[in-house]
Amino acid sequence: MTAATHPAAGGAAAGKTDPVLVVEDLEVEFATDSGWLGVLDGVSFAVGRGETVGIVGESGSGKTVTSLAALGLLPPHSSRIPRGSVRLDGVELVGMPRRKLEAIRGDDISMIFQEPMTSLNPAFKVGDQIAEVVRRHRGGSWRSAMARAVEVLSEVGIPNAAQRARSFPHEFSGGMRQRVMIAMAMACQPKVIIADEPTTALDVTIQAQVLDLMRRMSEEHGTAVVFVTHDLGVVADICDRAVVMYAGQVVEQAEVDDLYHRPRHPYTAALMTAMPQLTGRSGRLATIPGRTPAPGSMPPGCRFHPRCAHALDTCRAGDDGAGGRVAIRELDGGRTSRCLRVHELTLEGTE
Ligand SMILES: Nc1ncnc2c1ncn2[C@@H]1O[C@H](COP(=O)(O)OP(=O)(O)OP(=O)(O)O)[C@@H](O)[C@H]1O
Ligand code: SF4
Ligand SMILES: [Mg+2]
Repeated sequence: MTAATHPAAGGAAAGKTDPVLVVEDLEVEFATDSGWLGVLDGVSFAVGRGETVGIVGESGSGKTVTSLAALGLLPPHSSRIPRGSVRLDGVELVGMPRRKLEAIRGDDISMIFQEPMTSLNPAFKVGDQIAEVVRRHRGGSWRSAMARAVEVLSEVGIPNAAQRARSFPHEFSGGMRQRVMIAMAMACQPKVIIADEPTTALDVTIQAQVLDLMRRMSEEHGTAVVFVTHDLGVVADICDRAVVMYAGQVVEQAEVDDLYHRPRHPYTAALMTAMPQLTGRSGRLATIPGRTPAPGSMPPGCRFHPRCAHALDTCRAGDDGAGGRVAIRELDGGRTSRCLRVHELTLEGTE
């Protein structure tokens, strides 16, 4: 088995054959007092039509920045994308004028946030808010937009949808509000939905219902879902494929079953070891010894080496022998791993 190594953009090809969202070699920098600071480094992944891809990693690994970059929602003055590409159905979003992006957002690609109140306006009835999104993107009469709002509220399981459309956001429970958010995101039947920790604030039963709902909507409408989470249990439950992030890089990608049975990056394996109770939905990430490095003080070579049980001097030296980055290795079965020792190590997964 030989690994093809692509120092720059490796890994984007690991999606399905018909990718609807392709993120390639994405770098993001934020402005700080001491200049531009790199936060994402060569992030690449692809999402196929109807596919649910989980982005998983510890806090600060770059999951939200990746999502925001894909939606063109990074703060315009304090961030920049020095290189890389985000293509939605073949259309490049990086560098697209704001107006044009706003037209695409909500229509072809939409986002579900952790806290619904960040996207719902407390001053307006939920039906009006959804109808407004429909009208903005699809035109038509107010009446038909409202009919669509009621239809989509009913699809996400809001009882008496026609009546509840006239309620304000605060009149819904947390789980129901999250359903309203999903309804709003689905209203124009986007090609891609990015959900950033959409269920973290919910109790376990409601969380399970909301996750099932998202999965069903994706299957019924062929919507691709990017699901951002800390929770390996959720990834196992609802995702087809997983993208594991560490310190601003994608370190492993694989079909979910393959990832859990045989991780090919020590960070993924460490996440699983830290969580032996990986059964069902209770598996939030426990801690791995050591700390995630902060942007601006990344270790040389493999960024995981200070915490890796398998680290050798060559890992600190990186691919170029001088502390440069470790490139992505493409493996059999469309998998990728950013580990120099991927072919020497046999890592333990879960049953
Ligand atoms: N607006 C910003 N300005 C400067 N740095 C930022 C900004 N937003 C995020 N970062 C930094 O980028 C890195 C990645 O952050 P990000 O929010 O993407 O992490 P995350 O994986 O979503 O974490 P969590 O699981 O806690 O949500 C962090 O080091 C964070 O401090
Ligand atoms: S490259 Fe070395 S330090 Fe990095 S994950 Fe692989 S074995 Fe560990
Ligand atoms: Mg986040």
